[in-house]
Amino acid sequence: MAKDYKFEVGEKIYHQTCITCHGESGVTSEDLNFVVRPRNLSKTILTQEQTYEVIKEGGHYWGSYSDMMPAFKYVYDEYQLRAVAYYISLKFNKGLEKKAEELYAHSDKISKKQEPKMLKRGKKIYNRNCRWCHGLNAKGDGEATRNPDKSIFPYDLTRTLLTNKQMFLYAKYGGKFWGTDKDDMPSWSKKYDDFTLKSVIKYIDVTFRKDKKIKIKSNFKP
Ligand code: HEC
Ligand code: HEC
Repeated sequence: MAKDYKFEVGEKIYHQTCITCHGESGVTSEDLNFVVRPRNLSKTILTQEQTYEVIKEGGHYWGSYSDMMPAFKYVYDEYQLRAVAYYISLKFNKGLEKKAEELYAHSDKISKKQEPKMLKRGKKIYNRNCRWCHGLNAKGDGEATRNPDKSIFPYDLTRTLLTNKQMFLYAKYGGKFWGTDKDDMPSWSKKYDDFTLKSVIKYIDVTFRKDKKIKIKSNFKP
């Protein structure tokens, strides 16, 4: 087999820098004691392009409440950053982008008749459920973050790099499904149908994701 130079560059960096937190196979060691545990990279919902963005700018830039996932743009050049993302995609989560597309394709479609009802429904459900953690303005600072243990770390959804489709899949299946260690972001599919969850995401997008710069930047192909 021909040598894949980019893969090797990525592998080397991964072993030097990422393995301490994300583990040999993309999974964190049980022994490590983190407040926010590193994601299981073999389950990530992120595309290779989005993975590159998170490695470059760090987790906090894209809405993570914590500062645990550092920005590596000060450490590595453009080629190296892309090489690690490439390595992760090939090594740990090959085919996962396609799986996400398929899950979405099998979700209920929104009919023309349902469309006008979405924002009202979305607002109601957001305020009833999501606000408690994600906050009044979706900044990730809901009441739940002020619990005495400070153990909940929601995302600032105004900064997320997820597309609407991905946000829907994240809410439908929950954080654990997509590689988080804790189950703080539950799967909402037992409680709500696809129409309701798509409505919530539409409401979040229209109401809180006004910063077009971040939005356009994150509007990658699937
Ligand atoms: C100090 C520990 C630490 C190091 C070192 C580290 N990470 Fe992370 N990483 C984290 C944590 C913690 C998260 C989850 C942040 C959150 O959800 O709030 C994360 C999240 C990520 C994500 C997002 C995954 C997803 O599904 O959202 C990617 C991609 C990632 N890391 C890649 C890397 C790469 C590549 C490196 C090495 C260049 C690296 N990380 C080094 C701790 C670390
Ligand atoms: C009990 C607290 C809690 C509630 C309630 C909650 N979330 Fe979350 N959410 C989280 C946490 C914590 C995360 C961070 C990642 C993780 O742990 O999965 C998160 C992450 C997310 C993400 C991923 C953002 C990203 O960039 O990776 C989306 C999308 C999301 N939540 C949507 C929702 C929606 C929609 C609702 C309401 C139906 C909701 N959440 C209710 C705690 C919550």
